[in-house]
Amino acid sequence: MPSAVMPTSGRGAAGGPAPAAISAVGLRKSFGDKVVLDGIDLRIPAGSVFALLGPNGAGKTTVVKILSTLITADGGEARVGGHDLATQAQSVRAAIGVTGQFSAVDGLITGEENMLLMADLNHLSKAEGQRVAAELLERFDLVEAAKKPASTYSGGMKRRLDIAMTLVGGPRIIFLDEPTTGLDPRSRHNMWRIIRQLVTGGTTVFLTTQYLEEADELADRIAVLNGGRIVAEGSADELKRLVPGGHVRLRFTDPAAYRAATDALADAARDDEALTLQIPNDGTQRELRAVLDRLDAAGIEADELTVHTPDLDDVFFALTGSTAVPAQADQSKETVR
Ligand SMILES: Nc1ncnc2c1ncn2[C@@H]1O[C@H](COP(=O)(O)OP(=O)(O)OP(=O)(O)O)[C@@H](O)[C@H]1O
Ligand SMILES: [Mg+2]
Repeated sequence: MPSAVMPTSGRGAAGGPAPAAISAVGLRKSFGDKVVLDGIDLRIPAGSVFALLGPNGAGKTTVVKILSTLITADGGEARVGGHDLATQAQSVRAAIGVTGQFSAVDGLITGEENMLLMADLNHLSKAEGQRVAAELLERFDLVEAAKKPASTYSGGMKRRLDIAMTLVGGPRIIFLDEPTTGLDPRSRHNMWRIIRQLVTGGTTVFLTTQYLEEADELADRIAVLNGGRIVAEGSADELKRLVPGGHVRLRFTDPAAYRAATDALADAARDDEALTLQIPNDGTQRELRAVLDRLDAAGIEADELTVHTPDLDDVFFALTGSTAVPAQADQSKETVR
């Protein structure tokens, strides 16, 4: 019952829990006889960033489409912006903005015209539409390109325009389906900055991503979707604690020194080609000292010693590598903040 044990970030009024911007219980969806979502529970506090991770085909886009009323669930309930998805879809639509995995930008018209079209769709007056479009084009660094056909934009510019268009109606909740896929590192960092600014302004962000670093950077909470269910949920740190993978790596340049070390450290994982040894280690001072003491005692002098702590990649592989769900994953739901 993750939704029942999941306290909120505590940013609500009077120290109470923040109201949920998005909540869902038991969402189900099948396409034909393929079960894609097999009971999804979510509770996303207002003003927070939530990242949904999962391998290709896990159902991330399907979740986004359901919560943004583009398709209907086969079962379960959800509220978005305080409105019931099934009975108040129109109100949900008015509260949200969606940037899909595939661009909504019309390449035949200019960036500015795309923006004004969105303003029209959002029933803004002509003057108001022009004001909002100009402000957003400025904020997304698209002023210079505004009068050019969007088909001439680079991938990063198109993505920025896409998100700027999503913001025209001033939504309090936005869904970003893989907002930085295909962007270069600089554009990706710029996008992160923009997303952080939105959150500072109180917007709730629901994002899906293939980039674990992105979830790590942006998200207050992360959920991993696999096999139709959420197999783990928590902050990036909480998820990293679920998987083993911390180790100390010793690299040698002298094959003789390497051989001597493999004899002395029989429990280490070896890579005879790279002349490296890996010893499990949680990265605490105490365990590091223990390793160093062992090396000293055996007279081992490595050319390089590096400490590796598990990252979200390790979590992702551990949780989505097989259909089996690690025992700790369920426990994590009980211990999350
Ligand atoms: N309209 C549809 N008709 C039939 N099957 C569909 C439909 N939409 C999605 N699916 C299937 O549902 C599953 C989940 O798709 P979805 O697009 O939600 O995955 P995803 O996690 O977003 O993947 P990706 O990381 O590739 O974007 C896939 O197996 C997909 O083929
Ligand atoms: Mg997708």
